[in-house]
Amino acid sequence: MNDLEMYREQLAFCDDKIIDALVERNAIIEKIMAYKETYGMPILQPAQEQKQQRRLDEKLRDNKYRDEIQDVFKRILRNSKRIQARKLFSYNIVLIGFMGAGKTTISDYLSMMFDMKLVEMDQEIAEREEMSIPDIFATYGEEYFRSLETNLLKELQTGKNCIISCGGGVALREENVIEMKKNGRVVLLTASPETIYDRVKDSNDRPLLKDNNNVEFIADLMEKRREKYEAAADVVIQTDGKSILQISEELITKLTELDEK
Ligand code: S3P
Repeated sequence: MNDLEMYREQLAFCDDKIIDALVERNAIIEKIMAYKETYGMPILQPAQEQKQQRRLDEKLRDNKYRDEIQDVFKRILRNSKRIQARKLFSYNIVLIGFMGAGKTTISDYLSMMFDMKLVEMDQEIAEREEMSIPDIFATYGEEYFRSLETNLLKELQTGKNCIISCGGGVALREENVIEMKKNGRVVLLTASPETIYDRVKDSNDRPLLKDNNNVEFIADLMEKRREKYEAAADVVIQTDGKSILQISEELITKLTELDEK
């Protein structure tokens, strides 16, 4: 055997070790999840994630291949998240609720923590139409926008394990709710009119609030929509005074409980 053949054999041996280590690592991820579930512990532990990252940074500080190895670890961590997400949610998570209820914020966070695909409906529609939501309303009217929402929602039912953040009006159409439930569990986020006002008062991208950005109008429209929102929801989460992490944990717990029922 010449040297080259020997190196190739050594490389194959290394690859086998990497595979074994990854299989072992993934099995440990599953054990951690099972442990957290048994003891009712929070699934999301961002502080632990940061600790893990610091440990890696420290260990690789003077390593000649630091950047390459960090890159591989990014993928490994991402895949661990996917393993968790697939185990927890074999369906789409559909977030509904009034403007400013926190749908975008919570879906961004969940998508990051579980590396799940995210579709922000308003954003997707604006990109496809190459127009902002206020411009779509002003140019084509609300009905046109509502049909775009329905079509997009229908299209999204071909996939699973995705987070769908709906615009505030999506759950008001019965046909949309039927679509959401085909592959998804529907999570309603709620907040008091005062909290909503506080969250939306500085934004200009909500045509319905354009000339009505005040607590009374919000309270009134919210009350008009309440029944439909509640009828669509599989779980409801009240968000006033809670952190993103608290809301997300509550969401995971409530969705997991649905499966146990
Ligand atoms: C709407 C909510 C908005 C956007 C549009 C109409 C509504 O989305 O779809 O302005 O009818 O409540 P957000 O809830 O994400 O603000």
